[in-house]
Amino acid sequence: MSGFVDLHCHLLPGVDDGAQTLEDSLEMARALVDLGFSTVAPSPHARPEYAPVELAKARLGELREALAAAAIPLTLAANAENYFLEDRFLENLGTAAARTLGAGAYVLVEAPYTSPVPALTEIIFRAKLKGVTALIAHPERCFEFERKGRAAEAVNAGALLQLDVGSLVGKYGAGAKKLARAFLDEGLYAVGATDLHGPNAARDWLGKALAELKSRAGEQAYVAMLRDSPAALLRGETLELNDG
Ligand SMILES: [Fe+2]
Repeated sequence: MSGFVDLHCHLLPGVDDGAQTLEDSLEMARALVDLGFSTVAPSPHARPEYAPVELAKARLGELREALAAAAIPLTLAANAENYFLEDRFLENLGTAAARTLGAGAYVLVEAPYTSPVPALTEIIFRAKLKGVTALIAHPERCFEFERKGRAAEAVNAGALLQLDVGSLVGKYGAGAKKLARAFLDEGLYAVGATDLHGPNAARDWLGKALAELKSRAGEQAYVAMLRDSPAALLRGETLELNDG
């Protein structure tokens, strides 16, 4: 049976603020496999201060080979963590330069942590016009979504929301924890993801965060958020709203 699918994870070595070495990556990969994951779409930051797409692609290939050599059963897929306020984000969508998820029908994108995104719904619409659906990373950690009703507005505009499971256990502070629990109760999240940046997090709190998600969301939604829905997004399939 297939396992969990992680659509937000800084698993590639030496491309951003995630894994720094190949050994880090392999240790994270082992921890993910132990926790039930079988697929990861590593999501390096697509921002000028980090590695360009060519290097990220090369690292993805290298990590695939290293996983096979170490007999770690983890399948990798293409992905990146884009940024709402990056001009080229929208420009690139629909072109070969777009850094989309898996089959290309979705794009993982984060909002800034401490400043607003007034054009949020407009960006979601403009991405849709280019045939790409925004999967918004960890809204519970971002200023824009502290505004009451804004997360639901994004979903109504056609975006999907991705929970950082660590938010549920306070990894990013009390505010993010409260919002994560509220959005989860409202059924606003399509998927949960780890957003791992290193091997310590994988060992320290990820298991606890997954258990918290399971107890809060229930078995059915837990499996939908971690396995079935992210797998469908990778394949480019449409999800039913509030599925599971
Ligand atoms: Fe991230």
